[in-house]
Amino acid sequence: MPTPGNLILREAYQPLAYGVETVDLDFNLDPQATVVTSRLKCVRNPDAAAGPVVLFGEALELVSIAIDGAAPAEGQVRKTESGLEVNVSADEVVLTIVTRINPSANLTLSGLYQSRGGFYTQCEAEGFRRITYFPDRPDVMARYTVRLEADAATCPVLLSNGNLLETGTLPNGRHFARWEDPFLKPSYLFALVAAELSALERTVTTMSGRDVLLQVWVEARDLDRVEHAMDSLIHSMRWDEEVFGLELDLDRFMIVAVSDFNMGAMENKGLNIFNTKYVLANPDTGTDLDFENVESVVAHEYFHNWTGNRVTCRDWFQLTLKEGLTVFRDQQFTADMMARASDSPAAAASARAVTRIANVRGLRSGQFPEDAGPMAHPIRPDSYQEINNFYTATVYQKGAEVIRMILTLLGREGFRNGMDLYFSYHDGQAVTCDDFVGCMAEANGADLDLFMRWYSQAGTPRLKAEGAWDAATGTYTLTLSQSTPPTPGQPEKLPLHIPVAVGLIGPDGADLPLRLEGEANAGDTTRVLNLKEASRSWRFTGLAAEPVPSVLRGYSAPVILEIDEDDERLAFRMAHDADPFNRWDAAQRFMERVVLGLAADAAAGRKLEVPQAFGHAFRALLVNESLDPAFVAETLALPSEAYLLERMQPADPAPLRAALIHLMREVGQAMQADFLGRYLDLEVEGEYRYHPADAGKRSLRNLCLRYLAAWGGPTAIDLAAKQFEHAGNMTERYGALAALVQSDAPQRTEALAAFHDRYRDDALVLDKWFMLQATAWRWSDAAPTTLDQVRALMANPAFSLSNPNKVYSLLGGYFKSNAAEFHRPDGAGYAFWAEQVVALDRNNPQVASRMARALEGWRKFTPEIQARIRVALEQVAATEGLSPDVAEIVGKALG
Ligand code: PHE
Ligand code: ZN
Repeated sequence: MPTPGNLILREAYQPLAYGVETVDLDFNLDPQATVVTSRLKCVRNPDAAAGPVVLFGEALELVSIAIDGAAPAEGQVRKTESGLEVNVSADEVVLTIVTRINPSANLTLSGLYQSRGGFYTQCEAEGFRRITYFPDRPDVMARYTVRLEADAATCPVLLSNGNLLETGTLPNGRHFARWEDPFLKPSYLFALVAAELSALERTVTTMSGRDVLLQVWVEARDLDRVEHAMDSLIHSMRWDEEVFGLELDLDRFMIVAVSDFNMGAMENKGLNIFNTKYVLANPDTGTDLDFENVESVVAHEYFHNWTGNRVTCRDWFQLTLKEGLTVFRDQQFTADMMARASDSPAAAASARAVTRIANVRGLRSGQFPEDAGPMAHPIRPDSYQEINNFYTATVYQKGAEVIRMILTLLGREGFRNGMDLYFSYHDGQAVTCDDFVGCMAEANGADLDLFMRWYSQAGTPRLKAEGAWDAATGTYTLTLSQSTPPTPGQPEKLPLHIPVAVGLIGPDGADLPLRLEGEANAGDTTRVLNLKEASRSWRFTGLAAEPVPSVLRGYSAPVILEIDEDDERLAFRMAHDADPFNRWDAAQRFMERVVLGLAADAAAGRKLEVPQAFGHAFRALLVNESLDPAFVAETLALPSEAYLLERMQPADPAPLRAALIHLMREVGQAMQADFLGRYLDLEVEGEYRYHPADAGKRSLRNLCLRYLAAWGGPTAIDLAAKQFEHAGNMTERYGALAALVQSDAPQRTEALAAFHDRYRDDALVLDKWFMLQATAWRWSDAAPTTLDQVRALMANPAFSLSNPNKVYSLLGGYFKSNAAEFHRPDGAGYAFWAEQVVALDRNNPQVASRMARALEGWRKFTPEIQARIRVALEQVAATEGLSPDVAEIVGKALG
């Protein structure tokens, strides 16, 4: 159990006395006994206090250590809790360290491990110390050469970072390869792969005219699913050249797909290792969303080559330096790609908005709950017990929002100048968030001191907007106020610098030119107001009639907007807001209000009735054929249950679910003709292509199908069954199955069985099958059955507790995306959770910890629910031998 002694503090950062200049690694790969020989040239750091050479090591067998070729003197090498300390007096010393490790027994998927017969590494954040003793910190940057030796039959492909120097055969069926990475890197970016793989290859020319070799390595049977990943890589390279002037710096860039992987993907220098989920996609196996995800994850890892690798983090508290910035970059890339594929400026604008909406949906359902619970932390945390717990929605998604605000404040050109300065100052260095923001400020002569509070303050700020209309002077006064609720360790919050994009809508629905008091002329129709204090007012003048404010356009800051709008006003903005994001948001606000109202009625045993005004506004969007179908689908899709539970006080999953089901049923029934009409009109002809226009149609079609299936009439079920049967691609097949899964009709069971049969040998597609069943809602009043089904599915031969994707689909789906079933009143869901978290923790603490996090927000629920959850939390907390990962989560939850 970690004690407060295990708490690592940001303020305690100290450089190490010795760094490393060069690393020569030799791997003699063997499933049970891999021997690693490491030759380190260690050099005293003149800026650090004197001390020994500090080496971290974990789960290692030390075979030997030599200092400048000789055996260490008595007491020269000291074993510590975290590794070794070597006392030397010279400024330079060469350590030769031999360790033995057992990759086949490594189920943590951190360090060197095996997957389907091959060898793979994962070193971020602290996996390298599970391979050899090393100063395993990101501020130790060195040059690496690597020699790999393995069985030629089972591991014909031998890969590592950088450039291939040499390959050769050896006696006893073994062979070897030597690699050299010309760039300085921290140990977390080291990687090797030794496996039986095949590659799709392309040669492309970079902006400076160099030919580079691109490879995507997968198992041979998956070669028909890698084209899209390769295209995505090429698009990413072009985009980074065009938008940021950043070029690939290696002669060779490799992507490798592996089935057993804790995270999405990893940006190892020149050798990105990916979860298969984010590489493999073809029309028969991947949905439009899968295609989109592959594109954005490939881009994300590629963009890390500059934002993360060439310039890296000084310490892990700075994680958002690379992650927030790189998520921001991949989001911009996706928006540009969507816009580029559109055939009119209006379509491009809508496509950008749809991308933005998806990003904000993710933030609201993933990051808001985190920021409101016991794990709340600033994007740059001040402390942690286990760094693996801090690869969070806050560091990634909110971090990206913070970078986006810098762009809003500085403009495109100013932002680019700041990036250029950042690389000119810090290329080849390990730096801090202050260094990054410092460059942005310096390049623009901007003052970002107050803005830095976004890096140190946790919690989602509340932004309150109030308007006052003075008809006599034609003046509209907008008052913006901010406050941030307390978070653990931060009882008191200070005002932040919040850029608030605002527009005013006239009575005819058109945007009004904005003129602030004291200005000679009216200007743009959207203005960014910089709120820097607790509260401030702005006066807009020269207005003929009372306007309707549209606040926080484009979601210009990651806050919760509180604004008093009646149904009529929301309907007005749903129909007219010129900012597509806010138009969508108006619809979401209306739905939220309706759903939470229905949930309160359900909790009180009142009759549920959907307000007519809502129905009218909803239908107006549904039948509006001049709008982009992708956008309509977003406006008519309900807010996520996770987000709604945050908004409900106290949270109570059962009435919420009743409300959601009631709403979908009522709307599906009342508008069946409209849903059907749109469904039939939107059919996509011709062969499948991943294209935003086609994807948008499929998305709205599938949404229509879901509302129709919610109503549940025989025509609806028939339609879904037909779509399932005749689907020409996975998006349609999956959309139909998702609609059928929510019905009690016999077609449900038939479709699930047919889907399973068709894809019985396809791990990634079966993940969808597991997920759909784990997340299915119970539409009838029958007793809860999902838990029994999840248990039964765990016994399916395709399921495995040691494969993260399987766990995330089946258990993650149940714990995190099926609140009403998981929180069933008898507490059986929690007992199951405790049992599975403890079982997972024995083998893979990172995966266990992710599942453990499903209950961290338990204090938002009703007292009865809390009492039941507490039992399960305490049971896990009391478990002997708990990993620091899970201990931190349940400890903070109970604390
Ligand atoms: N750095 C990886 C990414 O964002 C995420 C990751 C972290 C992967 C830790 C593996 C382990 O892009
Ligand atoms: Zn990343």
